[in-house]
Amino acid sequence: MKIDDFLRTRRTVHNFQPRPVPDHLVVEAIESARWAPNHKLTEPWEFVIIGKETAAAISERNAEMLRETKGEASAAHKLARWNSMPGWMLLMCRRVDDPFRQQEDYGACCCAAQNFMLSLWSAGVATKWGTGPVTQDPEFFRLVGVDPAERFTVGLFWYGYPAATPPSARGPLQAVFKRLD
Ligand SMILES: Cc1cc2nc3c(=O)[nH]c(=O)nc-3n(C[C@H](O)[C@H](O)[C@H](O)COP(=O)(O)O)c2cc1C
Repeated sequence: MKIDDFLRTRRTVHNFQPRPVPDHLVVEAIESARWAPNHKLTEPWEFVIIGKETAAAISERNAEMLRETKGEASAAHKLARWNSMPGWMLLMCRRVDDPFRQQEDYGACCCAAQNFMLSLWSAGVATKWGTGPVTQDPEFFRLVGVDPAERFTVGLFWYGYPAATPPSARGPLQAVFKRLD
C-alpha cells in the first residue's frame, strides 16, 4: 500500500481478537512515534507499555468509577470488556509553564500518537485512542507511576488485531479547505 492508503484506511477499532501483538511491533511503533515533528526538539512525550497487572488495576479503577455514576451492571460490563483488551499503551505529555509551548508540545504528542497508530496499522494491528474519565483520575496516575504535576494524558491506546473494522466518515473535502489567489 502507498502511504495515503494507510492514512485513509486506518480506523478506530473497538473490538480485537484475543491473540497478543508481538512486543517488537509495539516497540517499533514507539520508535517511529518519537520521530514525529516537535518544535525546539523538546521531545515532550513519554510512552508507557502497560502490562497485564497494571491493565487489570486500571480496569478495576474504571469499573469503580462507573459503579458510582452508572451502577453495577454498567461497571461489570465495562470491567469484562476492558479486561479483554489485548494491548495497552499510554502516551503522556510533559507539562510546561508557557501556554504556547504547551500547545506546541501537545501538538507534537498528537503527531507521535498518529505515527504510533499508523506504524501498527501497517503491520495489520489496529488501535483505539481513549481519553475517558479514568485517564484523568489521580488514582490512575498512581497506578501508572506518573506524577500528574509533571505530565498529563494524551491518550490510552488499546491495540490488537481487529475483530471487526468499523466504517468511519468525513464530510466533503470542499467544506474544509479553500484556495486563495
Ligand atoms: C484526542 C482524541 C481522543 C479520543 N478519545 C476517544 C475516546 O475516549 N473514546 C473513543 O471511542 N474514541 C476516541 N477517539 C477516537 C475518535 O473517536 C475517532 O478517531 C473518530 O471517531 C473517527 O474514527 P476513525 O479514527 O476510525 O476515523 C479519540 C480521538 C482523538 C484524536
